[in-house]
Amino acid sequence: MTNNIEQLNADRLIDPTRRKLLLGSAGAVGLAGFLGGGIWSVSGEALAADLPANKLLGFKGIAASTADDIAIAEGYQAEVLISWGEPLVDGAAAFDPNGGNSAAEQEKQFGDNNDGMSFFPIDDNHGVMAINNEYVNEQYLFAHGGDKATSLEDVRKSQAAHGVSIVAVKRVGDTPRWEVERPSRYNRRITANTPMQFSGPAAGHPLLQTAADPSGRQVLGTFGNCANGKTPWGTYLTCEENFDTYFGTQQADYQTTPEQQRYTLKANEPERNWPDFDPRFDVAKNPHEFNRHGWIVEIDPLNPTSTPIKHTALGRFKHENAAVTVAKNGRLVVYMGDDERGEHIYKYVSKGKVDSANPANNRSLLDEGTLFVAQFDGDANGTPLKGKGRWIALEFGKNGLTPENGFRDAAEVLIFARKAAAQVGATKMDRPEWIAVNPHDGRAYCTLTNNSKRGDEGMPLTPANPRPKNIYGQIIRWDEGGDATAEHFSWDMFALCGNPIAHPEGMYRGTPNITAENTFNSPDGLGFDSAGRLWILTDGKYSNKGDYQGQGNNQMLVGDPQSGEIRRFMVGPKSCELTGVTFAQDYKTLFVNVQHPGEEGDSHFPHNSPRPRSSVIMITRKDGGVIGA
Ligand code: FEO
Ligand code: CA
Ligand code: CA
Ligand code: CA
Repeated sequence: MTNNIEQLNADRLIDPTRRKLLLGSAGAVGLAGFLGGGIWSVSGEALAADLPANKLLGFKGIAASTADDIAIAEGYQAEVLISWGEPLVDGAAAFDPNGGNSAAEQEKQFGDNNDGMSFFPIDDNHGVMAINNEYVNEQYLFAHGGDKATSLEDVRKSQAAHGVSIVAVKRVGDTPRWEVERPSRYNRRITANTPMQFSGPAAGHPLLQTAADPSGRQVLGTFGNCANGKTPWGTYLTCEENFDTYFGTQQADYQTTPEQQRYTLKANEPERNWPDFDPRFDVAKNPHEFNRHGWIVEIDPLNPTSTPIKHTALGRFKHENAAVTVAKNGRLVVYMGDDERGEHIYKYVSKGKVDSANPANNRSLLDEGTLFVAQFDGDANGTPLKGKGRWIALEFGKNGLTPENGFRDAAEVLIFARKAAAQVGATKMDRPEWIAVNPHDGRAYCTLTNNSKRGDEGMPLTPANPRPKNIYGQIIRWDEGGDATAEHFSWDMFALCGNPIAHPEGMYRGTPNITAENTFNSPDGLGFDSAGRLWILTDGKYSNKGDYQGQGNNQMLVGDPQSGEIRRFMVGPKSCELTGVTFAQDYKTLFVNVQHPGEEGDSHFPHNSPRPRSSVIMITRKDGGVIGA
């Protein structure tokens, strides 16, 4: 397999030998000087003047950067739209850069660690953004600077910094720039304590009932909100990912159940010590609360008094994003990844059809339908990096999802979707992160971010996960022949990521569209613009040494689905992740998130801040044109 990788898809991919190597420049760039007006416009160093013309990618790729700043393609500018802690809701207190804001104050401020987000236009000059606040960096959140909450007040502040921020925005004059609108009736915080409802087949199930909610239909809050989706009827989907890390107990002899273990609950060593101060998160006292998280939540950003809904039909796992599309027969299809080593890729197909004339009729589409899970096989000839696959229905009573195998009813198949997926023989993937659907041909792309344990016992190599100790990750794509409800597909590898600088040959070099100039690891965020450019964001190692030499900080790149070419567009500041990608309706403004800058304590982003702050970044072209064109 090793020897074949460079020949794969060669007809479609760019020959790297035509590119100019610029190895020496990596550490010298990222000048990205900060100008007084708040806009970064000194670009990253442009690469490879001899690039072949590409009709889709209209910018010059930039070099890697290790600077504590943003580097961006020539002709573009980047600026902060909003940062963690900024006042949002009426009556909010000013941000205290030393962590002094109270829980009650944080509840009215923009949340922390912004991740997936969507832009909802209202008219040409007004919009509303729904922005996930995935988690917190305790060392910056709390004035005491410790990495754990030390009181109920700390826990409440942490809970208030989680969830989703709904942010109204308005256009600045006649430009592609936008600014936060304050006050606005749309501005809203949804936190780990906001009342929500369950809907779908598992709503009301005994496993979702608690002492505080005997109905099993009312739940408090959302947290671990990783990425997102957007429905055709204009609502926002937020995806609950690492919910397990918020639960635990101090009861030393507490024995986790197999179902809790399947969702990696470490009861005696919770990552955040919410259970120490808030008994809702103590699994010994409230064992079913754990089952009430790990879902996809629908929020109506244009209705500030609406109650968010957790849709159980989409299954419970560590949801990354929700890539929504409408199949040619009108059914709603949602592709979803479960981000953990060896977990799976899912697809939900609605029973009913999208009704654009009567949006109210669409509300049940996320409650009645079938959840499928993917099996990726090789092709008949054993050709590397491509193959066939099928979607297997997770329906109670079928495919071994029966009481004999531990599934007592349809709701349990959804509440324990991971167990159901394993039962039907789903393929263990290399940490499925985002999925995005190409608007031009319906092919779906998925980032498999990395898997250091691939090839170990219980995690054998497979055609779609072909590399042992997969530290770089890959971007896989599947083709359902133009029918998103199809039960069979073919797949190939858009990119097997790698590092030709550290590994000039072999499988860690990557496919030929990975070059010394664009090398990156751990693709994560993913999104298409209307022209069909594939935006790729990374959440990987940023040591810039050894296996990662020449890759610099986390970055955003753009891929051409036809040619396979990938160019680096932007690089983030130190120890951040770039994530979340959305556009204004004219595609002249791109929003992207700098998440957890300085998680290693080495950043003052943005604006030389005493404590680094996760921020939404707004990118425009200096000539006002379409981004990426
Ligand atoms: Fe929140 Fe899998 O990333
Ligand atoms: Ca993230
Ligand atoms: Ca992610
Ligand atoms: Ca990630």
